[in-house]
Amino acid sequence: MSGNTKTLGEFIIENQASFKYSTGELSKLINAIRLAAKVVNHEVNKAGLVDILGASGETNVQGEDQQKLDVMANKKFIQTLTNREIVCGIASEEEDDFISINSLDNNHQNKYVVLFDPLDGSSNIDVNVSVGTIFSIYRRVTPIGTPVSIEDFLQPGRNQVAAGYIVYGTSTMLVYTTGHGVNGFTLNPAIGTFYLSHPDMRYPEDGKIYSMNEGNYVHFPEGVKRYIKYCQQEEGDRPYTSRYIGSLVSDFHRNMIKGGIYIYPKSNAAENGKLRLLYECNPMAFIAEQAGGKASDGFTRIMDIAPTELHQRVPFFCGSRNMVTKAEEFMQQS
Ligand code: AHG
Ligand code: MN
Ligand code: MN
Repeated sequence: MSGNTKTLGEFIIENQASFKYSTGELSKLINAIRLAAKVVNHEVNKAGLVDILGASGETNVQGEDQQKLDVMANKKFIQTLTNREIVCGIASEEEDDFISINSLDNNHQNKYVVLFDPLDGSSNIDVNVSVGTIFSIYRRVTPIGTPVSIEDFLQPGRNQVAAGYIVYGTSTMLVYTTGHGVNGFTLNPAIGTFYLSHPDMRYPEDGKIYSMNEGNYVHFPEGVKRYIKYCQQEEGDRPYTSRYIGSLVSDFHRNMIKGGIYIYPKSNAAENGKLRLLYECNPMAFIAEQAGGKASDGFTRIMDIAPTELHQRVPFFCGSRNMVTKAEEFMQQS
């Protein structure tokens, strides 16, 4: 922590003035996420001691088995945001549809919607490997004073006002951006306070780590296959090192600190890959770009894609700028 004593709470207040027309609403919202993160962190840390491991027996709208911690994290985030009446709408990877917050007493005056992946990397829960939470915040496009509608959520990623993630790892960190760079805060669990431990995080322009599920190699597009061979060639600073945790948040976090590329391509089995544009790719793309990195679907900037549905999936190439550009070259040749 190199002597950093600034708390996340203090940082939020200090930076409130940097938002145009700030009314403090976004600050309150980030404070609520900070609280939900602590609650989920507490639950995740008890996994194995209480009956919270394993499948819940339900599947989500995308046909994936929900884990008990998926359900718990989803509930905690929704409760925290709903109780405080600071958003007008919520969309979650674990909910079939978006939720309109009926704050009748303030007549739908809130202006932000939040989209999130409450628990990312849920296949890692039962084996004590890092998981995360990802969130993305937009200003609504429908008029204040009316209930939210689908177009408030289907905005291109470049419209994001803020985005971040929490990684429940060897320590718990909250990393976020409001469009003025990326800052990382580490939780001191003894006193329940996040401290600014990683100010102004920067993605190295180059890296030596490639992260992808190579078990799916036979199903990958030709461009990705050739890029993998390029990573493995002995030349210059190659071969690169392969690291794949299987939690996007954790793989991204490591690559942002050390330099690297994360790829979840389309495959013969999944024509748009696996990751979700709204809950995973857009927020990570915003953070990556704010740190000097890059995110694309192999051809197009992620944040320029116009979403057509809430649970839309998209191929994802994200990481150090020069590495993503190189991978795109291979894609374009195929
Ligand atoms: P989630 O747990 O929210 O469904 O996300 C899992 C995602 C992502 O975190 C990870 O990088 C990827 O799925 C792993 O997929 P594979 O097991 O297919 O490699
Ligand atoms: Mn996820
Ligand atoms: Mn998830």
